[in-house]
Amino acid sequence: MAYSLQDKIILITGAASGIGRETALLMGQHGAELVLSDINIEDGEQVAALIEEQGGRAHFKAANVADTREVKALHQFVLDTCGGLDCAINSAGIEHDNLRLADCDDDLFDRVIDINLKGIFLCMREQIKIMQSKGHGHIINLASVAGVKGAPTLAPYSASKFGVIGLTRSAALEYARMGIRINAVCPSFINTPMVQRSLKVMDEKTANSIRCASPMRRLGEPLEVARTLAWLASDESSFMNGHSVVLDGGLTV
Ligand SMILES: NC(=O)c1ccc[n+]([C@@H]2O[C@H](COP(=O)([O-])OP(=O)(O)OC[C@H]3O[C@@H](n4cnc5c(N)ncnc54)[C@H](O)[C@@H]3O)[C@@H](O)[C@H]2O)c1
Repeated sequence: MAYSLQDKIILITGAASGIGRETALLMGQHGAELVLSDINIEDGEQVAALIEEQGGRAHFKAANVADTREVKALHQFVLDTCGGLDCAINSAGIEHDNLRLADCDDDLFDRVIDINLKGIFLCMREQIKIMQSKGHGHIINLASVAGVKGAPTLAPYSASKFGVIGLTRSAALEYARMGIRINAVCPSFINTPMVQRSLKVMDEKTANSIRCASPMRRLGEPLEVARTLAWLASDESSFMNGHSVVLDGGLTV
């Protein structure tokens, strides 16, 4: 094993599905003590149970990342249960239907920003407080290639992900001297329930153009993102701070 997560306390939001789920399973195999969180309680508890069955350590605590009170309670749970926090993976997020900006109503815009951007802000605020008190920590936010270049028909989602990169970079500069690193990961289309939902409502030609959008002519797999997150969460990434790791098979090159 080229890196270790042995006994690292790691919180993963959005852990019930897709990238969060795959990352939880992989980090469990690498010896981390995990706190998994999601609004989907049934699937989240199943992921925690699966990790325990495989000999790992995982706790589950439900929380809506867009709710200040629930986010505070989640982080209090982390402290009470594990006594600290070495790393947080902020993966909870939502997609939305493809539509042009002028067709986007207030509710859709607010919902996407509340969960994808404010949710990350609320989580980071609590994570930084814990990490500051311990003098170290690493926060890794799920942004997107839609946060580094424009994404036609996905303006609210794209705006939320550009915002995540802004939070990542600014906070990385603020907290580096206190031993806290903050980075982002920017995947392109990854074969998760989120992307499957989006592909399902497209005509076959458009869906195929998405599947083959990268020069590698395929979707990324959640395990490919999980492996990057696991390496980033380890001490092997110790001088990486404030950056956005693009995982896109060459799409944005
Ligand atoms: N799949 C992709 O192609 C892709 C590409 C780029 C970025 N991302 C980002 O990666 C992250 C994970 O995406 P995924 O593909 O695994 O999606 P997914 O839909 O498979 O999983 C997202 C998880 O987040 C949870 N969630 C949603 N709203 C929540 C809330 N308010 N509070 C707590 N949990 C909530 C869901 O219940 C779900 O379990 C998201 O932030 C997404 O924007 C995904």
